[in-house]
Amino acid sequence: MQMSHVFHHPLCCKLLLSRFAKNAPILSSLTNCVSQQAYRHRIHSSALPQFCQKGASASLLSTLHGHRYVSPINSCTTRHNSNEASSDTHKVQLTSERFPQLKRNDSYGRLNEADIEYFVKLLPGRVVSDEDELEGANTDWMYLARGSSKLMLKPKTTQEVSEILAYCNSRCLAVTPQGGNTGLVGGSVPVFDEIVLSTSLMNDIIHLDKASGILVCQAGCILESLSTYLEDHDLIMPLDLGAKGSCQIGGNISTNAGGLRLLRYGSLRGNVLGIEAVLADGTIIDCLSTLRKDNTGYDLKNLFIGSEGTLGVVTAVSIQCPPKPKAVNLAFLGCSSYENVLATYSECKNNCAEILSAFEMMDLQSMKFVTTNLGLSNPLGECPFYVVVETSGSDAQHDEEKLNKFLEVVMEQQYVMDGTIATEPSKIYALWQLRERINESMMKSGVVYKYDISLPLDVYYDVVIETRQRLGDNVLGVVGYGHIGDGNLHLNAVAPTLNKTVSDLLEPFVYEWTAKHKGSISAEHGLGFNKRNYIYYSKSDAAVELMALMKAKMDPKCILNPYKTIPVCKPASKQ
Ligand code: FAD
Ligand code: MLT
Ligand code: ZN
Repeated sequence: MQMSHVFHHPLCCKLLLSRFAKNAPILSSLTNCVSQQAYRHRIHSSALPQFCQKGASASLLSTLHGHRYVSPINSCTTRHNSNEASSDTHKVQLTSERFPQLKRNDSYGRLNEADIEYFVKLLPGRVVSDEDELEGANTDWMYLARGSSKLMLKPKTTQEVSEILAYCNSRCLAVTPQGGNTGLVGGSVPVFDEIVLSTSLMNDIIHLDKASGILVCQAGCILESLSTYLEDHDLIMPLDLGAKGSCQIGGNISTNAGGLRLLRYGSLRGNVLGIEAVLADGTIIDCLSTLRKDNTGYDLKNLFIGSEGTLGVVTAVSIQCPPKPKAVNLAFLGCSSYENVLATYSECKNNCAEILSAFEMMDLQSMKFVTTNLGLSNPLGECPFYVVVETSGSDAQHDEEKLNKFLEVVMEQQYVMDGTIATEPSKIYALWQLRERINESMMKSGVVYKYDISLPLDVYYDVVIETRQRLGDNVLGVVGYGHIGDGNLHLNAVAPTLNKTVSDLLEPFVYEWTAKHKGSISAEHGLGFNKRNYIYYSKSDAAVELMALMKAKMDPKCILNPYKTIPVCKPASKQ
């Protein structure tokens, strides 16, 4: 253990070093366990061959130790692989059956032989009608939404996307754009028989300007593949999230994904410099600027960021990538109360300032799910709250001094009751797993009712407590964790199966509570299918009306991702 140089304060040394030494075997077994399972990355049949071909296997993965993560070593053999997907997904109720009051809009055309002939000619060998493969594309990551699409198209170029959409628009055929299908709001899968337009074969890196750190690539590049590529050039992606092994940059942009690094590098809206997208009628909008400054009129790229495939299909992106930090440290800490979590966060900002790269919170219930359902080991004792603090900087000694000072203060003040630190990538990785895999661990117990809300920090955790009281024994647990540095709480209720009593207790309660405290009902996952009708809790009528006008202008027949994001979207009648 090379930790003895890290802590100078006697209290820190005593507590943290002993904790660290004691848990050394636990940490290494955690790493092994992770590499053997790597379940969390859902690799669909569409993403699977591509990811494997790209060489994200053992040899390449050994190069990934530079920054926070070791790659999902067995990404190609996850529990969500193509074979298992079909048996699992059959259990998911069709969305059309779950919501019988929602009717397919019959203004949309129905696929016929001539349509299929057209697509086969346009995309030879890349038109999927195989039921098993479609099953994965029809079913969302949460196993809650299932469409009945009979066709998936896999273009490789922007021109092909343009031709697909021009054709679909002329026939009024509805289309669901799909990236890695890791979205958590039912937005990435069809509701009825929409054609799936998969970007999984649009995975070329177009250009990297090493001096400026500006990367230009196609929309279907998997986030983790981009990270791996950039690390070789001493750069990193400005975003990172638990789904990195499957999600694609186009999907990240379309959901304006937040994730674990937002605290440090800001939102994608700031890091994306340019976008190329195709409108519903096939028009290609080339806004693929690589300039940091460009004030020539309206910022059109921002229309596509976070619009969840309803305004256009993102085909390429240019993105500003920060330098790879030379020193990364991680502190995993236990706190006795939410107030102490907040006090720890304040001290962390004061002391770590510019080197702070993540500040995440998970409650004891979260820890119980990851340890019980995934067999991960808690390196600390039982604490009501846990905090993950990551620092990333350019000078190891300087960063350690800052981290030490912070730890000294929070331990002296008794804001922190227990803790461990890591500087080695494998140990950092193992500790991050405890936070990143909460989502997956809950799903092993049944159905997860997921809320992703922004709240002022003084009331941030109150909603978890109230929801827990409200649901009582109706659920297996109510879990709170999230990106506390961004004011983003993930509130989850876990039940054995879908249950109307539970749904009625949760909604609209959670949305009303959030609106009452001036929060947002979707902090980072978007609205998709699940939350589109609740938009009014966070946006005024006039704002929603303007969104609808933009939609009508850009996609008058409403062929792009219908039934998503905007409450009502009526297609223009078929031609
Ligand atoms: P998909 O799921 O395929 O699609 C998402 C939406 O974007 C859909 O509406 C789809 O129609 C649209 N879309 C996809 N590609 C395109 C395109 N090229 N053009 C137009 N529209 C498109 N989110 C966070 O913000 N922060 C997190 O920390 C985070 N962690 C996660 C952890 C796990 C384990 C999982 C499963 C999900 C997590 N997410 C998180 C959810 C997040 O939204 C996605 O993981 C990711 O951004 C979606 O990318 P994707 O390629 O899978 O897109
Ligand atoms: C996370 O922060 O882990 C993700 O946004 C997914 C989730 O809600 O669990
Ligand atoms: Zn999140």
